[in-house]
Amino acid sequence: MPESQSIVHKAATKRGRKRQSLLPILQDIYEHKHVIDEEDMVEVARELDISAAHVYGTATFYSFLETRQSGQFIIRLCKTITCMMHGKNLILQELERILKIKPGQTTPDGLFTLKEANCLGQCHKGPAMLVNDTPHTELTPEKIRDIIDGYRREALKL
Ligand code: FES
Repeated sequence: MPESQSIVHKAATKRGRKRQSLLPILQDIYEHKHVIDEEDMVEVARELDISAAHVYGTATFYSFLETRQSGQFIIRLCKTITCMMHGKNLILQELERILKIKPGQTTPDGLFTLKEANCLGQCHKGPAMLVNDTPHTELTPEKIRDIIDGYRREALKL
């Protein structure tokens, strides 16, 4: 069984093959592969006997489920009003400067994907961002340099 087929099959067996199993199945696949590609979506559609368009619509609606290959660390900088008022643009500029990428892009070494996201529920401590599942708050350009440095070290196991 090809890799994608077996991951999808396992997720469907665990979560059930009902319509409401769709999101948990997508989450399982994402946890496993950090991406949900077209092949996976077609497989999920086949397992649940629903249209691939429906699967695609769900996967892309939840922007936390990546449908394109992304970096080892996914940065989601909050772009919502409170963080905006607390200087989110300065943080974005610093991230773009250090990583040399724009939102939606991944660094050539495959380490970081930069994204903007809606409110992360950390408004009282804005500007805020998530790196994978870890929140970082009260960001400043200096803090950003340390945080990115920390993840680079982690990736290199320094
Ligand atoms: Fe940024 Fe809520 S507005 S975390």
